[in-house]
Amino acid sequence: MKVLFEQLRVSFFEKILIQKQLNSGVFLKGTQVSSLEQELAFFYGSKALCVSSGTQALVLALEAIGISSRDEVLVQANTIAAGALAVAQCGGIPIFMDAVDVGKHNVSLDQVKKMCRPETKALILTHMYGEFAPETKKIARYLKSRGIALIEDCSHAHGLWIEADKKYAGQYGDISCFSLYPTKNLGAIGDAGYLLFPDDRWRKEVLKLRDYSSAEKITSYRSTNARCDEIQACVVRHRLKSLSKLNKLRQDKARYYHNNLDMIDKKHILVPLFGGSIYYQYVIWINNGKRDLLRAWLKSKSIETAIHYPYPEYAKYAFGYEGVFPILKETTEGLLSLPLYPSISIKSIKYVSRQIQKFFEK
Ligand SMILES: Cc1ncc(COP(=O)(O)O)c(C=O)c1O
Repeated sequence: MKVLFEQLRVSFFEKILIQKQLNSGVFLKGTQVSSLEQELAFFYGSKALCVSSGTQALVLALEAIGISSRDEVLVQANTIAAGALAVAQCGGIPIFMDAVDVGKHNVSLDQVKKMCRPETKALILTHMYGEFAPETKKIARYLKSRGIALIEDCSHAHGLWIEADKKYAGQYGDISCFSLYPTKNLGAIGDAGYLLFPDDRWRKEVLKLRDYSSAEKITSYRSTNARCDEIQACVVRHRLKSLSKLNKLRQDKARYYHNNLDMIDKKHILVPLFGGSIYYQYVIWINNGKRDLLRAWLKSKSIETAIHYPYPEYAKYAFGYEGVFPILKETTEGLLSLPLYPSISIKSIKYVSRQIQKFFEK
């Protein structure tokens, strides 16, 4: 049985929407983007702006809060390079934070307290793999008391509802950024992204920066082209209607993995705690340096897997970072992402789980 890591599709109805949009001849600066912004605002209860990618969302958020030459911004070393690159693009310096512990992917308040210095101007906090960073509220409070901005990177956390606070991930920081990369829980059919704002303060700044051609008066040489196009917006508008349902489907599928994998001896494998997450990725951790062997075994059974994310060598090569991240070193050697998406069949999940069990029984 073949199990793909991702299965991206455009539905029949979406094809009609795309064709209609193509027929209209409006490709940029039309009503699809402004309607999507209104619908995102309604969904989240925050102000929203669409842009051309998640990376551009981060760049514009940092530009808006005024990150510039030699300002330091804390970034997680265990996430994608986009945050660090965005900081550098604004002229700032990314300060990398190691992971907290093996099997714990989100930042902690203690860690943030230890890393903050007078030069620190912002923190980019990523809710890893769709799991809410549990100390976000405390971190937000602490950063506020020190005049440091909190940017939530919610690219893994579209529509992640926090029942205890009755709000969404993305509503704790000064600005939040989302990638609409096609594999995300809310994905476009190409590149796109959006930002959420609690009020108009930073939204107005981003509005000026994202489209040099429609800003009434250019007040910053940093204005750029980060426009979202109409085709992406019309597809995302349609998909937003099913976001909560699709997140629920991911949770249901994750439960099958959990029930099947949780019975394997903990000395071999750590599985994500069940509950809360919307499982952008289902990431397990394999002990004793056996991850690559397991991965090869699964490949031989036609099961695709991925690694989110490999050890961040880019910190050294792109930023001249001299140190090592000891916890990440250990963590990344064991990480393995299993296929999980709304349309994956239970049969596939059972097959993947069975093959993992067999590997450890050998
Ligand atoms: C956590 C995170 N931040 C930022 C990005 C960058 O988004 P994009 O690829 O849309 O520029 C991604 C993309 O995968 C991501 O996963």
